[in-house]
Amino acid sequence: MGDDVQQFQEQRTTGARAVIADRAVRSVFQPIVELDSGRVVAYEALARGPQGPLEAPDALFAAARAEGCLTELDQACRAAALRGAVARGLLAPSTVFVNVEPEVLDDTPVAGLFDPEVPVPGDLRVVLEITERALAARPAELLRTVARVREFGWAIALDDVGAESLSLAFMPLLRPDVVKLDLRLVQGRPGPAIAEIMNAVNAYAESTGALVLAEGIETGPHLAMARGLGATLGQGWLFGRPGPGAAPGARPGALRLPAVPPPDPQGRLLSPFECLPAHVPVREAPKALLIELSKQLERQAMRLGETCVVATTFQEARHVTPATRLRYRDLVERVGFVAALGEDLPAEPLPGLRGADLAPGDPVRGEWDVVVLSPHFSAALLARDLGDDGSDLARRFAFSLTYERDTVVRAARALLSRVAPSTTRRGPAADGQAVADVPAGVASLLTGRSAGDPGEALLHRALAAVGTGVTIVDLRLPDQLLVYVNPAFERLAGQPAAELLGRNCRFLQHPDTDPAAVGRIRAAIEVGDECREVLLNRRSDGSTWWNECTLTPVTDGTGAVVQYIGIQADVTEQVETERALRTERDRVRRYAARIAELDARVGVPLSLATPGEGPQTSTDSPGARRA
Ligand code: FNR
Repeated sequence: MGDDVQQFQEQRTTGARAVIADRAVRSVFQPIVELDSGRVVAYEALARGPQGPLEAPDALFAAARAEGCLTELDQACRAAALRGAVARGLLAPSTVFVNVEPEVLDDTPVAGLFDPEVPVPGDLRVVLEITERALAARPAELLRTVARVREFGWAIALDDVGAESLSLAFMPLLRPDVVKLDLRLVQGRPGPAIAEIMNAVNAYAESTGALVLAEGIETGPHLAMARGLGATLGQGWLFGRPGPGAAPGARPGALRLPAVPPPDPQGRLLSPFECLPAHVPVREAPKALLIELSKQLERQAMRLGETCVVATTFQEARHVTPATRLRYRDLVERVGFVAALGEDLPAEPLPGLRGADLAPGDPVRGEWDVVVLSPHFSAALLARDLGDDGSDLARRFAFSLTYERDTVVRAARALLSRVAPSTTRRGPAADGQAVADVPAGVASLLTGRSAGDPGEALLHRALAAVGTGVTIVDLRLPDQLLVYVNPAFERLAGQPAAELLGRNCRFLQHPDTDPAAVGRIRAAIEVGDECREVLLNRRSDGSTWWNECTLTPVTDGTGAVVQYIGIQADVTEQVETERALRTERDRVRRYAARIAELDARVGVPLSLATPGEGPQTSTDSPGARRA
């Protein structure tokens, strides 16, 4: 017998396939507790293999992955969970949380979530736990699956929230009934990342009534932290380890899930424009205005960063111009998830940009939509082509610009429900078109080669030697792209010239960059003025620096502003010293005020009071009067 055949037969009798065939997967149940009442309101079903090397779920799932039977094992685990829950009497008012492996939802259309062989009695309440990963990989499929799960009467929990920023971005789209916080939130030390997650989760829970469940509660301090984070449900060893059935001595209770809005009554996939409620006014505008409104929303999305989802439509692929490609390349790099749809658009129009060709007859073909959704911001430009002939920029659209969160969420769902499954798992990459059409003269600076003029070579050497960042932006190119950066700027930005050239500098900005300062720069460039602003910028490794950015216009022979020269200096130390000084000054002022208050109470003459502010003599102080 050949080695392969022998190995195959061994696997059939000892591996994950054998475990599945023998129905040897069983479930254990860990209690989920309502923190205020201490009642056990639900159990999470956790899979175990038969006694032996495949008993632990990690080993069992690793074996299934290796043997190519992950989907079958996943289904067997769910079936075991449901069978076990029924056999152990974990029925209403209790609820059972069951899992689905992210890779199963990632890689296959979900047909086998519900096993027809496992009857689900009406008094078995089920919550299906999913992760955001599946939505990123196959948004259309997962949104359909979630709808089917709800039709089935099951609820949805979003698992591991906080482990990835994308889970925050996708929360409103999946609309989970329960948000399960990653255990690092409860067990870790509070920091900015935890604050960001909690802001997003609390905003979501407040607006939808979703329940927040903290996992990994093992000690009293973990419990206190869970409550502080806003959790009303908890799970972890402090309440009980996984067991074969109901936790001994537990006081049972009912999980009070939020009401979920009904699905769209039309029963078909709406277009974003069709999601507009009747009371939202619809106006008319030419394409020229829509271009600017769209760019404004894109800029807003850039500032929202990784917790933001952007979904747009382009009518036809030809509307994705080189300038648009450049803007979208930046968006893909900065924003959590970006999708662009249009007639003839491929599944991945740019590296990392998710797309889809729109079917003939799909009403979205006649729409121009830009949807921006993040935990604290939602906006959508939803427009429909009025079919004008003539000049392209004058073509009119019926449009609405809405910030109503429900409408924006529905519009985002409408677009994501059309996005093709991911074909690759790549990060953003450089786009070769970036520096096409760079005007002569600037091109010599850009390439670093002299155009034959000794003066230009000298200038180039000088710029390469200075320690301050120098950049040149050409206004004749779309979206004010960088055409030159000196080595000092490469160091400041933390990226080589090849990754900087052909981009607008705004990609360096951080979600915390002051929008007012950015607005002042935009206004100055619009009228060709010089300006200086100190901006918070971010390097590709995520570290931040304060950039004192001085922008000077360069005119051509006719007086028209054709370029801007930027001088960028790292003033981080100065900004931080000033901040520390300010904090120190505030602290001293607070102490002085406190001392003055205490002095006033005990009647001791003031040494620190400002003349005129405090009591002037010991006789007119309250203490003196009391004496
Ligand atoms: C800029 N801008 C810029 N922004 C930034 O955050 N860091 C930087 O180093 C620079 N450098 C820079 C150099 C030059 C020559 C110009 C013309 C501009 C500003 C940025 O590109 C953009 O103009 C502002 O973000 C305002 O425009 P938006 O984003 O509102 O379109």
